[in-house]
Amino acid sequence: MSARRNLQAVATLLLCGASLVAQIGGRATRPKVQRPDGAVWEVIRNNCTACHGIDDYAFYAQDRAAWSKLIANKHKAGEADISDADRSLLLDWLVSKFGPETKPFPRTYVPHEITTFFSDPEAKRLLDRACTKCHGLEQVQTARKAAEGWRVTLVDMRERGAQISDQDLEQLVEWLDRVWGTNEDK
Ligand code: HEC
Ligand code: HEC
Repeated sequence: MSARRNLQAVATLLLCGASLVAQIGGRATRPKVQRPDGAVWEVIRNNCTACHGIDDYAFYAQDRAAWSKLIANKHKAGEADISDADRSLLLDWLVSKFGPETKPFPRTYVPHEITTFFSDPEAKRLLDRACTKCHGLEQVQTARKAAEGWRVTLVDMRERGAQISDQDLEQLVEWLDRVWGTNEDK
């Protein structure tokens, strides 16, 4: 092996090490998109989900023309070709869920490390301050999710306009999982 090849091997190892550290530091949180019903789901199931899921759609907030262009640009000819009628159904749904007036889910939110935890009054104060502007708290109280699911919801709420810092967001995730997690006895 030449000295140059050896150097390349070392560089590759170092790069692997760096990405491992980045992963231990935390992965970016991914959106969770609720599956549509009926005809739209049929179009997606028949034409799209063989290769990838639907969650990535939430990274975009754009109009019909931009959706159409994105789908054309992301795929080679023949990969995502669908009939005009199916395309029209799909675009209607995409624009209704991820149109220009919505906020895209961030690709880059990595959970912040926390070392202190909310007491019940602290969590309730934050819920009252940050979560009651657009809807009541019943929708929070009746939901049950594991920490990962609560984080996706809170990042989504922040994109929609909830005023909450990274630190508060993670403390609230921890508290919601503790109090309204998915354990049977909670
Ligand atoms: C044959 C496999 C295949 C099929 C079928 C397919 N896709 Fe894709 N799609 C891909 C690949 C591969 C990428 C990533 C391309 C890139 O980022 O360069 C992609 C990327 C995308 C993206 C961008 C995702 C992101 O994170 O930015 C969207 C949106 C998308 N596809 C929607 C669709 C829709 C809607 C359909 C059905 C009409 C569909 N795809 C069908 C392979 C497929
Ligand atoms: C700027 C407006 C706004 C604020 C502030 C807001 N929400 Fe929401 N929330 C929404 C909207 C809009 C929906 C309905 C989303 C949908 O239908 O997909 C929603 C739905 C929800 C849901 C049910 C959907 C799910 O993902 O489980 C929960 C739980 C929730 N919000 C929790 C919260 C919490 C906790 C806060 C405070 C950190 C908060 N929201 C603050 C706008 C807001």
